[in-house]
Amino acid sequence: MITLKGLTKSYRSGERKIDVLKRINLEIEQGDMLAIMGRSGTGKSTLLNILAGLDTADQGTYQYKQVKISDMNGNERARFRKQNIGFIIQNYTLIDSKNVFENIALPLRYSKLSKGEIIDKVDRVLADLKITELKEKDVDMLSGGEMQRVAIARALIQDPDLILADEPTGSLDEQTEEEILNIFKKLNQEGKTLVIVTHDQVVADWCYKIYYMQDGKVDLIAS
Ligand SMILES: Nc1ncnc2c1ncn2[C@@H]1O[C@H](COP(=O)(O)OP(=O)(O)OP(=O)(O)O)[C@@H](O)[C@H]1O
Ligand SMILES: [Mg+2]
Repeated sequence: MITLKGLTKSYRSGERKIDVLKRINLEIEQGDMLAIMGRSGTGKSTLLNILAGLDTADQGTYQYKQVKISDMNGNERARFRKQNIGFIIQNYTLIDSKNVFENIALPLRYSKLSKGEIIDKVDRVLADLKITELKEKDVDMLSGGEMQRVAIARALIQDPDLILADEPTGSLDEQTEEEILNIFKKLNQEGKTLVIVTHDQVVADWCYKIYYMQDGKVDLIAS
């Protein structure tokens, strides 16, 4: 599904150049569920942002199915992201001034769907995640676990093939974490491919493969 070849990325901060990704090669198969672990600052979010088409590498190629994402311009990448990717970002950012329904419906705002179709879609995702009762709530009234479920609902609203999750269970209690992991497992069983960045071994153990990021490289450490 995904092939990364020689992916390289550096950041410049003042005089210093930080090489975050150093010629990364990685294959992700359709239907896989994999974890990416590694110390803070090793480039996990950077890699996920590139997979999402939010950021680009300096060198190397990113192929998604038949398409070379690394050859795309910003607009093409935005369209690719919209059609294929569900992104649950680190420290889930919901929009405080909008309620749960509005937050989940947000990715559909420029779609050609009618209001009724959008409501149906949101209702279905709410039901799937068992949070229908939150629909009209303001997001600043939600608990951490509820917010995380809303963030997942928003990532799922366009029925993406690839779900990228950056620390999706950080700061959740064990039971809520397990509920979220059960949601991921179910999505995987429905055919979705999941890439989960986590510091948590429990989360990693739910995945089929565990990769470890270090010194700009990604190594498979368990499968
Ligand atoms: N936009 C940016 N400009 C400059 N440096 C950046 C930028 N984004 C990330 N970095 C640097 O790149 C390195 C990798 O950052 P990244 O966010 O990918 O790490 P991470 O593995 O996700 O860490 P964490 O586990 O803390 O989330 C860090 O040293 C960070 O400071
Ligand atoms: Mg990060």
